Amino acid sequence: MKGTNITETIHYIGVDDTNIDLFESQYPVPDGISYNSYLIMDEKIAIMDTVDRRESAAWWSNIEHLLDGRTPDYLIVQHMEPDHTGTIAEAVERYPGLQVVASARAVQMLPQFFGTTDFAQRTIAVKEGDTLSLGHHTLQFVMAPMVHWPEVMVTYDQAARVIFSADAFGTFGALRGAIIADSATSSPAWPDEARRYYYNICGKYGAPVQTLLKKFSALDIATICPLHGPVLTADLDHYISMYDRWSRYEAETDGVLIAYATIHGGTGRAAHHMADLLRARGASEVTVIELSRSDMSAAVAEAFRHKRLIVAASSYDASVFPPMYDFLHHLQLKGYQHRRVGIIENGSWAPTAGRVMKEMLTQMKELELAEPIVTIRSTMKPTDQPAMEALAEAMLA
Ligand code: FEO
Repeated sequence: MKGTNITETIHYIGVDDTNIDLFESQYPVPDGISYNSYLIMDEKIAIMDTVDRRESAAWWSNIEHLLDGRTPDYLIVQHMEPDHTGTIAEAVERYPGLQVVASARAVQMLPQFFGTTDFAQRTIAVKEGDTLSLGHHTLQFVMAPMVHWPEVMVTYDQAARVIFSADAFGTFGALRGAIIADSATSSPAWPDEARRYYYNICGKYGAPVQTLLKKFSALDIATICPLHGPVLTADLDHYISMYDRWSRYEAETDGVLIAYATIHGGTGRAAHHMADLLRARGASEVTVIELSRSDMSAAVAEAFRHKRLIVAASSYDASVFPPMYDFLHHLQLKGYQHRRVGIIENGSWAPTAGRVMKEMLTQMKELELAEPIVTIRSTMKPTDQPAMEALAEAMLA
């Protein structure tokens, strides 16, 4: 990859990382991930973010090829997370005239990450609405705190009507040359990998994302250039409406997710039986996930996608089986809210899972608990059927 044109003067210089096992040391990325970066060639030259140091060699190759002997004037840093800042110190040293342009909070953060680099006289702190002329291009800075860190800003190119959107509108998955999505259906990462990325990276920050979307609506945007995943050049209303829905914590399906954590299979069989009961009652969509054998980030995204959730788990050490505890903890962290939930617990001698799951769920915002809480003793029996049917009815009421 030596640079793909986004416009005649804006070039993609990002890189794929297909060797990474876990993004942020927690999210499986079987199709890799891209670290996006862009170069604006004008009277002045601006680099839009750098990349993770894991792939710095390929990035340098891309940038030097396009520069063809010229030197960049500005490095615009929209987000300080290391997947986008791996080569800042090297760039500052390589180009003595380079100025780092970032929010005041990002400028403050630079020494935290690059303590041995001298940034004196090398930074320009910008605030909401500030502009920077490159010649033909004028960059307008838009603050976006907490999408996904506090120092984040996005940048609007007034001439090209391009928004460089930082983590917003990002996806998991390497691009493998398919850098531009020119229709709502042309990227395999949308919507599933974009949703998994959104809820796990930005899910807690729905209100800041809503604030950013309001700022977007005041701009005339033709292209969205995120820091991960494809550049979006068409059907922008479609992508923005998905972000609007996700950041309002609104479900995409009226259906039910059943997430279960089973030790020896009894709870799992009860979960699948509940799925049958829901389907028999006409549930629009029923999805069943075994938490011990599923990617946690996918389970979190599925919980947000569905309007209703049933959690089914074994009791364990006077608490709940850890995969369920972990799942509910993730939902708490990501701001799970505004859903109907049901509980199935299993316990062979002293059931405790239901109490723990209920306590965790009641700490979340505006969840409606469907009754009854079903208690299974080791395995489901015909005597459990009335409670199971009552819960199925209550979930769909
Ligand atoms: Fe892609 Fe929040 O970094």
